[in-house]
Amino acid sequence: MRIESRRATERLGSVRLGGTQRVLELDSGKSSESHPLERMAVLQVPEDLIREYEEKLAIVIPIKDEKLQLFEGVISAVPHDCLLIVLSNSQRRRVDHFQMERDMLRQFCEFTHRQAIIIHQKDKVLSRAMLDAGYTEMLGPGGRLKSGKSEAMVAAILLSMALGKEYIGFIDADNYFPGSVWEYVKCFASGLILATSPYAMTRVLWRYKPKIYGGIYFKKWGRASEITNRHLNALLSHRSGFETDIVKTSNAGEHAMSLALARMLPYASGYAVETHELISILERFSGFLQPAPAAVAKQGIDIFQLETCNPHLHEDKGDVHLRREMLLPSLSAIYHSALCDDETRQGIASELRLQGIIKEGDVPAAPCVYRPPAEANLEAFNAIMMPALGEYFAVPESFKI
Ligand code: GDD
Ligand code: MG
Repeated sequence: MRIESRRATERLGSVRLGGTQRVLELDSGKSSESHPLERMAVLQVPEDLIREYEEKLAIVIPIKDEKLQLFEGVISAVPHDCLLIVLSNSQRRRVDHFQMERDMLRQFCEFTHRQAIIIHQKDKVLSRAMLDAGYTEMLGPGGRLKSGKSEAMVAAILLSMALGKEYIGFIDADNYFPGSVWEYVKCFASGLILATSPYAMTRVLWRYKPKIYGGIYFKKWGRASEITNRHLNALLSHRSGFETDIVKTSNAGEHAMSLALARMLPYASGYAVETHELISILERFSGFLQPAPAAVAKQGIDIFQLETCNPHLHEDKGDVHLRREMLLPSLSAIYHSALCDDETRQGIASELRLQGIIKEGDVPAAPCVYRPPAEANLEAFNAIMMPALGEYFAVPESFKI
């Protein structure tokens, strides 16, 4: 893969937050030699190195009642050597949607000689493992894991740690273009390779998010992300005293991390999760509020924002979802951060009022935040999950670790 060199970096204590870098070439060929002059403008990430990283990478697909054809396209595009982990919250009552996903994944794995893990979010073994790990606040009625993409992500992080993976990436199941999924994984790996620290994150920015308004229109910015980026940049600008527009991926559903970083972060519930990841990295490691832990201070944290070649087309879940479930929690994660200044808070409150999401005089409710996986009881989690993996979470047959 060839990627633009990084032009801008915001250095915030131990955090190195890179400006957008475009993917220039999806496959950079056999030779990994590049001309010295080329290296000033273009970074080549060797294909065999990307493959090496894919072996260490778990790709997590959260899914809730998506069209099976979309799910099939997504799984078929995840490079062969990545471990596929599907966390499903699909319905099991009238039609057992989860069973259909499981069947499809099993058949895919049989045809392609792969192994994957698929777990229902309300599964009693998983819920028990999360309880024993200490995540009582993540359990809902009947002691089952609460619904939400973020809750699924935390469970998948614990599982990837248990399976000895080094990296984890998240890809939504409602994607119409399998080729874009393939590119996300290549981007994930490339960012993690280019990082100079073991604490690394790649966040994907889509070049376009097409919309159908009569004809097809290649829109650049999603509504929620454009607004969230603006307010997160306002927070950074007020902190440093220098205006910046560096953040372009505050809502990046498609993102990857080293588990060394993922295990240290707290996670906000629901769709606040991706914005909150950036907020918690800044709260913990920028030095604004507290000194970063020594190991992190020494190595730093590398955040890459990579812009894809492929456009991103996913299911349109409607305006109410966009504003209430996405924008409100994302902005509330910024609003309630100890890093947030009064002016940014006022800006967020008026934005939410303007959008008709909160009433005059109201403030957004603080997101529910789950503790970092590093603070969980991993032995207890593993003791419950590992024996169950081969028995009924793995497809197509017993999982060999
Ligand atoms: N396991 C699980 N549990 N998965 C879920 C749940 C749940 O309760 N709710 C939704 N999902 C799955 C969906 O099926 C989809 O694959 C993925 O999580 C994202 O959910 P969407 O409902 O499609 O979210 P979105 O398209 O509005 O937002 C996505 O993109 C945003 C950036 O534009 C998400 O990835 C956001 O987190 C992201 O900020
Ligand atoms: Mg979606």
